[in-house]
Amino acid sequence: MRINDNYLNLKESYLFSDIARRVSEYKEKNPCAEIIRLGIGDVTRPLPAAVIAAVHKAIDEQSSAEGFRGYGPEQGYDFLRRAIADNDYRANGVDIQEDEIFVSDGAKSDTGNIGDILSNDNIVAITDPVYPVYLDTNTMAGREIKYIPSTAENEFAPNPPEYRADMVYLCSPNNPTGSVLTREKLKAWVDYAISNNAVILFDSAYVAYISEPDVPRSIYEIDGAKKCAIEFRSFSKTAGFTGLRCAYTVVPKELSAKAADGSAVSLNKLWLRRQTTKFNGVPYIVQRAAEAVYSPEGKAQVRETIAYYMENARIIREGLAAAGFKVFGGVNAPYIWMKCPGASWDFFDLLLNRTCVVGTPGSGFGKNGEGYFRLTAFGTRENTLEALERIKKAF
Ligand code: MLT
Repeated sequence: MRINDNYLNLKESYLFSDIARRVSEYKEKNPCAEIIRLGIGDVTRPLPAAVIAAVHKAIDEQSSAEGFRGYGPEQGYDFLRRAIADNDYRANGVDIQEDEIFVSDGAKSDTGNIGDILSNDNIVAITDPVYPVYLDTNTMAGREIKYIPSTAENEFAPNPPEYRADMVYLCSPNNPTGSVLTREKLKAWVDYAISNNAVILFDSAYVAYISEPDVPRSIYEIDGAKKCAIEFRSFSKTAGFTGLRCAYTVVPKELSAKAADGSAVSLNKLWLRRQTTKFNGVPYIVQRAAEAVYSPEGKAQVRETIAYYMENARIIREGLAAAGFKVFGGVNAPYIWMKCPGASWDFFDLLLNRTCVVGTPGSGFGKNGEGYFRLTAFGTRENTLEALERIKKAF
């Protein structure tokens, strides 16, 4: 019996587990400390009232033989796939069909699991810094990974590299830097993917935070993207589903990749095959909750929540700037990326010791994240204001 040796190439633990461990050690030594967590991007606002009402209704349905639901379709109920296609795509002039949408338990799982249908011989390009799931899951698969530097010089939105890659992960609005890919940049990536026969794995979990008008909401707004891109979206950061769990992935039917014999195979068909085998679907109750996000009340409540977090983002951006830090992001994203004095983990300790505020060290996202630090806008207003007061006093 052998293990998958690729796991030995991973860092000892996942970034956010590492941070949680360090914070609990600090808490043990300083039991009275009032810690403010602006590290992991977990939401703090309660679920929208429309979602809560839908959950109650769906639970009540389970008490009658007619309303009871057992296994559902692995790729999601029609009612939710229709609501997604109508609201997130057709309403914006993008034609996505229901059977191109696969409802799942999270964009984290999907961005990792998608590798199941792609060869382990593929070369993967990821930006540096990057959301660690893309790196770790491809390391687990033993794929060759190439890094695309994402730096202040390229506004944390790099252009395609000179070399060829088969799989490219892009995240816009970006976690961790808060940057976005403009229409022009995204077009350059789509052109790159088409000419290299590559697939773009486009993570747009933070799309709801885009505030500027000309930033594409979907990669499919770019001509040719349906031939080369898979898009991942989530209800977590949009509607507070980090605990409830619901997301979806779009795999267009136009998208194909080569088999060993040279024939073109539909990725939509392969992903359906993978999901029907390895996944039993998102609970009916949760899918009804997600559907409620698209009701008129749901939409209004979600808008209000996003505005709340974006006001936090403004408080953090302006507060850090007033304390003399150079800041990025926080305009089209709930993440604020700041330049920190010295090494990122040293600043993590310094900030924790001086202010009891927890953030995420930039180096945890990659080599180019060294010297940077990430704060999230997902805290409560009270904690966000308090954190910034402490930071302004301490630095
Ligand atoms: C983060 O803090 O980067 C995210 O919350 C992690 C995630 O969505 O998995």
